[in-house]
Amino acid sequence: MNPFSSRPLAEIPDGAATGLSVPHEAAWEHVTGKALYTDDLPCRSSNVLYAWPLQVYAAHARIDSLDTSTAKTMPGVVRVLTAEDVPGINDYGDLGDEPLFPEEVQYHGQHVAWVLAESLEEARLATEAIKISITELPSIITTQEAIAAGQFQGPRATLARGDADAALANAPHRISGGIDIQGQEHFYLETQASFATIDESGQVFIQCSTQAPSHTQEVAARVLGVPSNQVTVQCLRMGGGFGGKETNANAFAAVAALGAVLTGRPVSLRLNRTQDMTMTGKRGGFHASWEAGLDDDGHILAYKAVLTADGGCSVDLSPAVVSRALCHIDNAYYLPNVHVVGQVARTNKTSHTAFRGFGAPAGMIVTEDLLGQAATKLGIGEEEIRRRNFYAPGQTTPYEQVVSHAARMPVMWEKLKKTSDYEARLRQVAEFNAHHEHIKRGLAITPVKFGVSFNKPFLNQAGALVLIYRDGSVLINHGGTEMGQGLHTKMLQVAATALGVPLRRVRLAPTRTDKVPNTSATSASTGSDLNGGAVKNACEIILDRLAPVAAGLLGVNANEVRITDGAVGGLGTDKSVSWAELIETAYLQRVSLSAAGYYRTEGLFFDSKTYKGNAFKYYARGVAVAEVEVDGYTGAYTMRRVDLLHDVGCSLSPLIDLGQVEGAFVQGVGWLTQEDLRWDTSDGAGRGKLLTQAASTYKLPSFSELPQAFNVNLYVDEHPSDDGSIYGSKAVGEPPLMLSIAVREALRAAAAAFGDAGRQVELPSPATAEAVYWALDRARRQAPTPVLVTD
Ligand code: MTE
Ligand code: MOS
Repeated sequence: MNPFSSRPLAEIPDGAATGLSVPHEAAWEHVTGKALYTDDLPCRSSNVLYAWPLQVYAAHARIDSLDTSTAKTMPGVVRVLTAEDVPGINDYGDLGDEPLFPEEVQYHGQHVAWVLAESLEEARLATEAIKISITELPSIITTQEAIAAGQFQGPRATLARGDADAALANAPHRISGGIDIQGQEHFYLETQASFATIDESGQVFIQCSTQAPSHTQEVAARVLGVPSNQVTVQCLRMGGGFGGKETNANAFAAVAALGAVLTGRPVSLRLNRTQDMTMTGKRGGFHASWEAGLDDDGHILAYKAVLTADGGCSVDLSPAVVSRALCHIDNAYYLPNVHVVGQVARTNKTSHTAFRGFGAPAGMIVTEDLLGQAATKLGIGEEEIRRRNFYAPGQTTPYEQVVSHAARMPVMWEKLKKTSDYEARLRQVAEFNAHHEHIKRGLAITPVKFGVSFNKPFLNQAGALVLIYRDGSVLINHGGTEMGQGLHTKMLQVAATALGVPLRRVRLAPTRTDKVPNTSATSASTGSDLNGGAVKNACEIILDRLAPVAAGLLGVNANEVRITDGAVGGLGTDKSVSWAELIETAYLQRVSLSAAGYYRTEGLFFDSKTYKGNAFKYYARGVAVAEVEVDGYTGAYTMRRVDLLHDVGCSLSPLIDLGQVEGAFVQGVGWLTQEDLRWDTSDGAGRGKLLTQAASTYKLPSFSELPQAFNVNLYVDEHPSDDGSIYGSKAVGEPPLMLSIAVREALRAAAAAFGDAGRQVELPSPATAEAVYWALDRARRQAPTPVLVTD
């Protein structure tokens, strides 16, 4: 009998530590500078070598020769790493298209060799002494060029339901459009960093800023040609990952490990900002074209689209990103007849990768764009047309998963409309616009429905290790990584809740592959769901062993034992012993006080060929209302007010979750309105160069761009639903990013207000002040809407 481990995942026990508003577990260390990051470690070590890359500045070129002889003789140089040095496989990907030391340069700035020297400056100077000769090859920079050349990579996916062609032909109204959605630089504050050391038996230890320690371990072992048990990867914490360290850390970890193995010395590799921006993958841009058929009431009857992601120079995660885009093109709306094709273009750019939202933002924008335009065309309010298309209970997504708790969306929608005073403000905005010629305001409301789980079912598993020491203190280890999102804080709360001990009793040790093996990347917002399940499981395995011990102390049955806030009691007895006493007794009785926990999400299946299945455990939801004011002379704008309502179920940690909602929203606003990645697309010498290589040219949102009034609330349902997740909580990491689409729609409304009523305005993405200016200028001059996209 298992008195504890049979508890349902979502059941919240009395005295739970989850749900408490505690600060981030390392907040104090973060703000005082005490928190250690990977690059803080080398200076605590001795005999360290520093690595500097040789970058080649051509978009596409064959390397004819690489002469390192002079570089090797430069002061301080200990080793120059090239392809010949790789004892294992010279590739840091899983698909064989990512050579660590390439023979062909695939993007402007690609690293092709590394120098290890006593100091960073000596390593840098030595790279300049490497003689390289290359032959430039034809390159493809933009997605459109790739489409025209038919240059794609990875599988092409089709999501289809019903008969989209017939429904389109019969629809009373047809509209079409297209949009180019720009990518985004992760701009994590901590750039990519690895520190590799080697012990007396040749064991490699890599401390790495990685979201996926197990994957980093696999890649490093493959490059070194050793089994995984010779490589340990630890991630203390990251100074931000945002998806940019899901696979992108691996190459640098492998270089550091290789350097350590070949020299026997510790190797530190940390990119500076420009190296990081020019050498690592970003959110890839999307090029979308679509056609839709609607009825007189604005219901979408037919929807056809082609989404082409810019994958950059290798496949990496792009097919999975496209898959998530397809599975989120419906957003919160029922689409009876759909035909959407997703494909990945291959371009000569850094290989684009995961970024918060993972394709879903692009999919949603296309549909929000469609609805925004349909509203104008059919003369239905923007709020109204969205609401009319919401999923009704029982309806299924295009991949035929029933939308659980579909009724929640309209409830949240109405609630936020009320608390944000939406209707009255809509009238005020119209009033304001009628009286102001050169300043206009716009108000918009948009929904988010986001599926939680990895699209690939096998990734939905996690492990944890829980140790209880003789004094009753608890140490937990789990497979997830901390990147600022508060996963460790939540896991401490989960462990304290599961064990029934105060939060201060539990400590957490850094993520390490020799503690918990075979872990998935901390991504897809699943960190707390998966690792929370595993931590709880480990705790309960131990509690099952402790129950008979407690029962003996209290004179009750094992299944009557209750542990709350460190006090061990039983049903039907007033007797109670302390947690410490229970643990000491268990120890003396020779009861094992440690356990490995495991969790896998049940009920998931997805056929990537037919694009059907139960892809997600549940859906996270949110609603946003945004009001902007736009200056007609410059296109500059301010966010006057933003109201967000986001559903995290029974929050594991409300303060953390609020921070996640705010942070994700602002990051989304940055992507949609300010951050403007530019590459040199000319035929000149700089072709393929990333022109925005630093914060001086790449504008990130800062305090001054925050909404003037910012009301963020977690949605509390009157009837919390059990989606079968850890203590009734919901994932929060990515979904709120897409709440920022409301700002884009508000800008569109404001730009349109410069023209006649009923005017349709197309906005590029990002809608920078400049882009907004041209959009409002077209509206003002009654100029025809340009076709942004041609196929
Ligand atoms: N929050 C902070 N502060 N820093 C980050 O790097 N990454 C986001 C999100 N929130 C990130 C963040 C991304 S892309 C994901 S997938 C989730 O956190 C991952 O963590 P979780 O699964 O524990 O939510
Ligand atoms: Mo997040 S993009 O899934 O790492």
